[in-house]
Amino acid sequence: MIGMRDRIVTKLAERNTVLTPDALEYLNDLNSKDRVSVIIDKLEENNIQLPFPVCRETISCLEEDLSDGEKKKEIEENSWEQDPMSRCMVLKDVSGESTCTGDVDEFAKYFRDRYERIRSIVDKRREGKKARPINRIASRSGEATIIGMVRDIYTSSNGNKMLTIEDTTGEIRGFISSESEAFEKNLLEDEVVLAKGEVWDDNGDYERTFAIEKITRPGIPKLKNKSKPNFPGKIAFIGDIHVGSDTFLKDEWDEFTSWINSDDEEARSIKYLIVPGDLIDGIGIFPGQEKELDIIDVYEQYKKLADMIKDLPKDITVITIPGNHDMVRNAEPQPCIPEEVQELFPNNVLFFGNPALLDLEGLKILLYHGSSINELSDMLPQVSNENPVSAMKEMLKRRHLVPVYGKKTPIAPEEEDYLVIDEVPDIFVTGHIHRTEVDNYHGISMLNASTWQAQTEYQKTRDIQPDPAKVIVLDPNSNKVSIHDFC
Ligand SMILES: [Fe+2]
Repeated sequence: MIGMRDRIVTKLAERNTVLTPDALEYLNDLNSKDRVSVIIDKLEENNIQLPFPVCRETISCLEEDLSDGEKKKEIEENSWEQDPMSRCMVLKDVSGESTCTGDVDEFAKYFRDRYERIRSIVDKRREGKKARPINRIASRSGEATIIGMVRDIYTSSNGNKMLTIEDTTGEIRGFISSESEAFEKNLLEDEVVLAKGEVWDDNGDYERTFAIEKITRPGIPKLKNKSKPNFPGKIAFIGDIHVGSDTFLKDEWDEFTSWINSDDEEARSIKYLIVPGDLIDGIGIFPGQEKELDIIDVYEQYKKLADMIKDLPKDITVITIPGNHDMVRNAEPQPCIPEEVQELFPNNVLFFGNPALLDLEGLKILLYHGSSINELSDMLPQVSNENPVSAMKEMLKRRHLVPVYGKKTPIAPEEEDYLVIDEVPDIFVTGHIHRTEVDNYHGISMLNASTWQAQTEYQKTRDIQPDPAKVIVLDPNSNKVSIHDFC
């Protein structure tokens, strides 16, 4: 692995210059590729070469000589390193805001908030059709349009769909013919949609049926003018590092570390590194996990990760959220990892909850670990674990990260539903599936980040093939993406 120290020595050797040990230590501690490059250029400009080794004092003199522009750049870099949060605004994150106490009444409040939030998005898409309260349409026959939440839905023996749909005023039995346009929508439980159809009298049956012909989802408007960030650099995405696992890919990680510290043009352009969860493998996540661990203490796992991140360039800001293997509650939304763990890391690492919506210098980024991808692949024919972006697209269409309550992904009933996608992001990133995939949906860059864990015993028994050790690099100014493979 080539770290900062080796790079400095190699670069200076090319220029016929050597450093005293304290000068080398000083440059290494700067841990900033740009600052070191400026100083090395100054050494060349001043023709400082062998046979005289360059001492720490000479470097100080050169730093004092830096032009105003160079000094300004340094000041900017220094302030950035001291407070990387200054350029990152949190738009939505449960960390420090949780209202959940476990009271049973919280579920009713949670569902009401979920309904109201998505209803207000759907309401903007009603295309002139006035949506009516369900208690009004349930009392008379004829055409009707409502905005409701699907409480239950099943397929009848003759292939039609039967459902119950409700709003805050009441509920009605629904029917979707297998011949209708609405049938193609693959409606799921808990979805909030605009439904247009006809209320049937059912020949004296006191309970009317709403025959739904057309369904409109909240959906995502096509972005006409995509936001441009207020910075020229690129964003790299890595995921599911799983430090502590005996299948952690150390050699591949070292290759990545060498690359990101190298003079490679793309590596040097990276300003942010985003990690959407499963920073560590954790302990007690599944029965018998201890047999698959190299590090059996979670603090030691985080400590190891902190050391690994210290080997990355300090001028890259690392943005993290937890996943289902991290040391926070399993129910979503998950808060950021605890402060005593955060203290192990250098100050260029930022910690948020799962999910988190951030404004990163003018760019809206939605980070979600991705636990619901598995269940969406079980429920929807168009979704598969091999293509996680197919699940991400369905989340965006439904404006919810866990569209169905009560499946594999546990949800904590917060007063505010942090899993609703209220705001349309510029970038949507997930992990969890240990695959690498990139796509674009209505102008949103969708990325599923790779992993640094080889195939586990669990994955072997289910023939799940991970796609590890890849780094996605996005240029948010051009939307161009490249994928670097370290396998
Ligand atoms: Fe994972």
